Amino acid sequence: MKRVFSGMQPTGNLHLGNYIGALKQFIPLQEEAECFFCVVDLHALTIPRDPEDLRKKTLELAGLYLAAGLDPDKSTLFVQSHNPAHSEGAWLLQCVARMGELGRMTQFKDKGKGSESATAGLFTYPVLQAADILLYDTDIVPIGEDQKQHLELSRDLAERFNRQYGKVFTVPEPKIGKTGARVMGLDNPNKKMSKSADSSFNRIELLDDPDTIVKKFKRAVTDSENEIRYDPQNKPGISNLLDIYSEMSGESVDSLVERYQGKGYGHLKLDTADAVIQVLKPLQDRYRDVMESGEVKRVLAQGAERAREVSGNTLQKVQEAMGLVPRG
Ligand code: AMP
Ligand code: TRP
Repeated sequence: MKRVFSGMQPTGNLHLGNYIGALKQFIPLQEEAECFFCVVDLHALTIPRDPEDLRKKTLELAGLYLAAGLDPDKSTLFVQSHNPAHSEGAWLLQCVARMGELGRMTQFKDKGKGSESATAGLFTYPVLQAADILLYDTDIVPIGEDQKQHLELSRDLAERFNRQYGKVFTVPEPKIGKTGARVMGLDNPNKKMSKSADSSFNRIELLDDPDTIVKKFKRAVTDSENEIRYDPQNKPGISNLLDIYSEMSGESVDSLVERYQGKGYGHLKLDTADAVIQVLKPLQDRYRDVMESGEVKRVLAQGAERAREVSGNTLQKVQEAMGLVPRG
């Protein structure tokens, strides 16, 4: 059986890009593979955060995993810091990774902006991500397009380690959706939808109420033509709406384009909002139930135990291969 691993940071509020690019892809994988889904709280520390907020967001993200349909009887759900193997694996892989390749990571360049005061953790962030993935002998990593370069680094580190020390790691493959791998900002369709964008009109958050969702779609930036056609280069706003609508309704982009011939942008915006509400409303109801049930902590405790068990085996092989003396 194939292994799947993915993670999300408990920062900000999850948005439609996170949902379509990652979370939604996780659900069907549970039926065909052994899955590990992690709340990567250690990654969230790379940018200074309020400790109380981090704690709250970590439990909320786990609640959203459950509400979106991750089933703890089928998948392992856990918090990264509950398994110390991740930190230790990251150190060992930092001794394989090179300064040059980490310096080329675009996320570091975007977030660190070359600043002397960026944390060292922000620089080594992708190595921790590689440890997350490689410690579980992962075959497949479902992610959005923006994580492609980090996955490439995980593959390079696995291959380099195997050449240097003998074969220990499985080399993972990314799984990136054909549509929806890069959901664009509603207020600026030339940039990806993001938790950190200043304006809340950039993103639909998974817990937004229906009125807010409609309001945000109504304000979505489009173009000055009035033709509905799929053309991400020249019509990024309309194409983004079509991608979102298609992902939420299951109807193909081609079919939507045909159905909306001769109709105005306002029509497309309202129907897209409605398709989003149809998916998010039941998710929000389940989220409230899950958070009230007190189930989250129990699921995470059980998940961490399983995660420690599986990753412990690989970590031991790594330590031995590198020349560390086994504990007596
Ligand atoms: P993060 O919130 O950075 O931890 O991202 C969690 C997951 O969501 C990763 O797999 C990202 O690639 C994915 N993701 C984040 N933003 C977007 C976006 N705008 N479109 C598609 N996927 C995204
Ligand atoms: N870096 C990823 C992001 O920002 C989150 C992440 C951490 C991750 N570890 C992972 C994703 C392992 C996939 C697999 O989105």
